[in-house]
Amino acid sequence: MARLLVLGGSWFLGRAVVEEALARGWEVTTFRRGQTGHDVAGVTPIRGDRTNPDDLARLAAGGPWDAVVDTSSFVPRETLAVAKALDPVVGRYVLISTVSVYEGWPVEPLTEESRVLDCPSTAGPDFGFDGNPGPSIYGFTKAGCERAVTEVFGHDRAVLLRPGVILGPYEYVGRLPWWLHRVARGGRVLAPGQPHRSIQPVDVRDVATFALHTATADGPVGTFNVTASGRETMSDFLTACQQTTGSNATFTWITDEEWLVAQGVAQWTELPLWRTYRGAWAVDSVKARDAGLITRPLLDTATDTWAWLRNGGDAVAHERASEQGIAPDKEHAILGTWDARERDRCGSQ
Ligand SMILES: NC(=O)c1ccc[n+]([C@@H]2O[C@H](COP(=O)([O-])OP(=O)(O)OC[C@H]3O[C@@H](n4cnc5c(N)ncnc54)[C@H](OP(=O)(O)O)[C@@H]3O)[C@@H](O)[C@H]2O)c1
Repeated sequence: MARLLVLGGSWFLGRAVVEEALARGWEVTTFRRGQTGHDVAGVTPIRGDRTNPDDLARLAAGGPWDAVVDTSSFVPRETLAVAKALDPVVGRYVLISTVSVYEGWPVEPLTEESRVLDCPSTAGPDFGFDGNPGPSIYGFTKAGCERAVTEVFGHDRAVLLRPGVILGPYEYVGRLPWWLHRVARGGRVLAPGQPHRSIQPVDVRDVATFALHTATADGPVGTFNVTASGRETMSDFLTACQQTTGSNATFTWITDEEWLVAQGVAQWTELPLWRTYRGAWAVDSVKARDAGLITRPLLDTATDTWAWLRNGGDAVAHERASEQGIAPDKEHAILGTWDARERDRCGSQ
């Protein structure tokens, strides 16, 4: 039986990691303050703050562990302190990072060889700057967290996982929940962009399973992009939402993206998953697939997320959830303007 430490572990990805590890019969310790989410039954919880050196010393005294999965790493200097405290008592450090660490995100297609934002391992929470469409302070500081873990654990004991958008049960950002509720409401739905554009959201449980694969002593080490293959499309996604909710919604595809942007629609948030930049869904995950990543169809993710929402969806309220989704009046007005534009175009031909 493996002994696993999860930093976080009370909601969304951390919770999925914990549930999967317990299902495998692993012994699981979680470390968190006790402020968000729930302890999954079966874990050994240690309460503490990762920013507090005394708490880290107390945590380390609870070891050893074969591996740590760190889902709650955002500030490089704090992650450096965590890594130093855990180095003597942990075999491998699996860090949940993000594709936002790439300099070219979301504009260029990306592989693990693409340039990463430069951030020292000693940086604080405000390092870097927010650009449009990128880079972001989030990306800079996550890159600094990667550096911190690699400096302490070395390339043979560090695993850096870079997921793109993660969806699935317990999602707190609210992207898939918003689309499911919108499609369930029915009527005409504004469908953004090209229906056949491929998208790569990855199911939270598939990220968790791959994280545990890398946490095992003979599992792969190194850096991996963790995204779906891109075989499914935006149309597949909306169809999955429709099938799942049994909705009578019809989709009006607004394929002229420049026009849609000009209507003042915020991509990524007002219409979640819609992004015009070609790099947003062009992240190469072949390396992870070759190492064992398996991703499930979007329909499975939509079905299980809808079941979770219908059962009361016990996600913790998160400030980002309120950013998601277009107001019904705005959607209605844009569809009306689009219809008029299409009628004019047909009339003038
Ligand atoms: N959502 C996406 O689409 C997406 C995409 C790419 C990458 N990611 C990455 O995926 C990860 C998501 O992780 P997640 O879903 O498990 O949630 P999370 O919000 O990253 O982590 C929250 C967990 O960390 C604990 N925590 C927070 N501050 C703490 C502190 N100071 N000391 C100790 N524990 C603390 C929380 O419990 P307490 O509050 O009780 O302490 C909670 O259990 C993140 O690293 C994110 O960057 C997400």
